[in-house]
Amino acid sequence: MEVIELRPRPIADGVSWVGVIDWDRRLFDSLIPLPDGTSYNAYLVEGAEHTALVDTVDPSMADGLLARLEGVSRIDYVVSHHAEQDHSGAIPLVLDRYPTARVVCTPKAQPLLGDLLGVAADRCMVVEDGQTLDLGGKTLQFLHTPWVHWPETMVTWLAEDRILFSCDFFGCHLATSELYGDWARVRHAAKRYFGEIMMPLAPMVARNVARVREYQAALVAPSHGPVLTEPEAAMSAWADWAAGPPRNLAVVAYVSMHGSTRRMAEHLTDALAEEGVPVRQFDLTVTDLGELAIALVDAGTIVLGTPTVLTGPHPLAASAAWLANLLKPKARFATVIGSYGWGGRAVEALAGLLPNLKVELLDPVLCKGLPAVGDLEALRGLAKAIARKHEEEGFGPPDGG
Ligand code: FEO
Repeated sequence: MEVIELRPRPIADGVSWVGVIDWDRRLFDSLIPLPDGTSYNAYLVEGAEHTALVDTVDPSMADGLLARLEGVSRIDYVVSHHAEQDHSGAIPLVLDRYPTARVVCTPKAQPLLGDLLGVAADRCMVVEDGQTLDLGGKTLQFLHTPWVHWPETMVTWLAEDRILFSCDFFGCHLATSELYGDWARVRHAAKRYFGEIMMPLAPMVARNVARVREYQAALVAPSHGPVLTEPEAAMSAWADWAAGPPRNLAVVAYVSMHGSTRRMAEHLTDALAEEGVPVRQFDLTVTDLGELAIALVDAGTIVLGTPTVLTGPHPLAASAAWLANLLKPKARFATVIGSYGWGGRAVEALAGLLPNLKVELLDPVLCKGLPAVGDLEALRGLAKAIARKHEEEGFGPPDGG
C-alpha cells in the first residue's frame, strides 16, 4: 500500500496549514489559464476543547489532505466557506473519516453542498452572519460575504490570533512551497485572480473588503496561494481594483488574418503612445486570457480589432468581446477597428456583444483591405479622441500591472 507522509505546517499556535499544492494544473473551469499552478489551502484550528478544519481541497488531491491529517484523531467541525468543489470537494471523504464532524456553513451553502456533493443536511450546522463558535481559547466568527465568490460564501475570523480565513477572497493561483507571501511577491498573481474571478462581482467585493478591513487582521489565510503577511496592502489593492476609477490605459485586442487589422492595431497603439496613453496590445491568437484580464482591471478604453469573416467579426474577436462582457471591466470607452473585403456588419455584431459594459462607444475605424493614408489618419484621430476623453475624465497613470 502506498504511504504518503505529509505533516501539518504551523502558522500560529494551534493553527496549521494542511492544504495541497497543485504545481502542474494549467487550466481552471476549462477556461482560465494557471501559468503558476495553484494551491488548495485547508487549515486546522485546534482549541482546548474542539478542533475545526477550515475548508478542504479539490477532490483530485484529497489524498494529500487526508495524509496531512493522518495524526489528527478528532475533527469536530469542518468549516465550508464556499461550496465550489476546489474547496468543498473533499468534504465527503473527511466526513467519512471523522463520523461525528459537522459541516459549518451558511444557510445558502447547505443545500448547495447537498446538490453538489451529496452532503446530508443533518451533517450540517448552519451559521448566521456574525455567529461565533468557541473551540476553547480559539473563537471562530463567521462573516457572510455573499458573491465573493458565490452567493453562499463566507469567511472566518479567528479572534485570538487575528487571522482572517478568506477562502477565494484575497486568494491567488500561485503554487509555492513557501507558506507566507509578502504583497510584492503575490501582487501580480492576485491581480490576475481578481481580473479573472472577481471583477464581474466588483461591487460586492468592494463592500466586503470594506467590512473585513475593519478587523485589522494580522494575517490573511486564503484558500489559494500563500498566507498574506501584509493584509492592509492586499486589501487596499483589492479595494482599488474593485471600486477605484479606471486608469489612463487602453487595451487594443485584435485578430488579423492577412495583416490589415494588425497594421491598424499597431498604428493605433503607436498613435496612442504619442498622445500619452499607455497601451496593452494583444494579438488574440496568442493571448493569455489572464494577462488580458489584468489589463482590463485598469483600462479606461477597450479597442477590439477584427477582420470581417464572411459578414461578421472573426470568432476570436467575438470571443474576446463575450469574455469582456462577462468580466464587466470598469472601462468607460470602447470602440472597434478592422478591415473588410466587401462589407458586412462586424462593428454592429461586436458592439452588440457588450451590453454589460457601461461604455461610451467611440466612432469605429474600418477600412477596405489594407489601411490607406486616410485610414491611418482616422486612427490618429481616434487616438486623439481617446486621449482627450481620458484627460477629461482625469484618469491617473496605470499601476504597473
Ligand atoms: Fe476557489 Fe470559487 O473557488
